[in-house]
Amino acid sequence: MNPVQILVTGFTGQLGRLVAGALRDQHQICPRVLVRPQHLSQDWEAPRGMEVRSGDFTDPASLSAALEGCDAVFLVSPVHPEMRSREMALVEQAAAMPRPPHIVKISGLGTRLDSFVDSGRWHAEIEQRARELRLPATFLRPMFFMQNMGRQIPGVLATGILHGAVEAAAIAMVDARDIAEVAAAVLIGDSPIQGQAVPLTGSHAFTHEEIAQALAVAFGQEVKYERQSSEEMRALLSSLGMPDWHSEIVLQYNRAFIQGWASQVSDTVEQVLGRAPRRLEDYFAELATASVSPDDPR
Ligand SMILES: NC(=O)c1ccc[n+]([C@@H]2O[C@H](COP(=O)([O-])OP(=O)(O)OC[C@H]3O[C@@H](n4cnc5c(N)ncnc54)[C@H](OP(=O)(O)O)[C@@H]3O)[C@@H](O)[C@H]2O)c1
Repeated sequence: MNPVQILVTGFTGQLGRLVAGALRDQHQICPRVLVRPQHLSQDWEAPRGMEVRSGDFTDPASLSAALEGCDAVFLVSPVHPEMRSREMALVEQAAAMPRPPHIVKISGLGTRLDSFVDSGRWHAEIEQRARELRLPATFLRPMFFMQNMGRQIPGVLATGILHGAVEAAAIAMVDARDIAEVAAAVLIGDSPIQGQAVPLTGSHAFTHEEIAQALAVAFGQEVKYERQSSEEMRALLSSLGMPDWHSEIVLQYNRAFIQGWASQVSDTVEQVLGRAPRRLEDYFAELATASVSPDDPR
């Protein structure tokens, strides 16, 4: 029997999978993972050492069933106009439990009620609802995942050009694996940041010039940063089929980066894990030697 019962949402996504894996492999806990019913076909391979529950943020009964007996919940969902209603549904169900669990929520860049970044405002509203309901909660606020950069590498290496509409902004990226390890520590109640809202970053804020240089070193070829205008970026995103609401948010991120919203380094990873955060240069080296892939960073 687990000392604590933990529900992990978003298991089929990037962070949820890593958090569930960290709980199982580093803390010997069998997490309960929430998976939408459409995944649970006959081909679904049940993950080792995890308890799978079928559920959806839009199905409150499935949430309350999954929350039964839980001490803590990892809450994550994709950036989407429905993000508020999805995550608030879980928050409401958690507050209705006889013993409300500790919510460990992933928020993000510009998490403020007056933010011009739409997703930042949505995160702030969800955090506010959890506080109003007096739920025990810890809010983890990464700014930018190194893995986003990892996914761009094939295109960058094909052209030798790293495009970006962030001018000379410095961005304190964090490795998704560090976010997951921090979240796992908070979920089991073993961290000095319980109940706080904290930024999560790596140990250096990188400009795109520096990222291009780090890519050149890791992959042994010339890489140059080429600045794009917002309009060029908008046209690119639209040509890739991104919906307007989403490209608007990407442009808001870029504006926030240029204004320095992600330039501050925090020591949260070190405080919680007792070691330095993973470095971008090392992540690129892992990708170059194919010991990890951007979509499977373990
Ligand atoms: N990427 C970054 O640089 C960055 C930076 C800061 C903060 N963040 C934050 O990180 C979060 C995204 O994390 P991620 O990359 O792990 O997301 P992700 O890979 O897109 O995964 C999202 C998960 O949510 C699940 N989900 C979607 N709709 C659902 C529903 N109705 N009911 C139940 N589950 C549902 C998805 O399940 P399905 O597979 O069934 O769709 C998936 O498992 C966002 O809140 C974002 O603001 C990201």
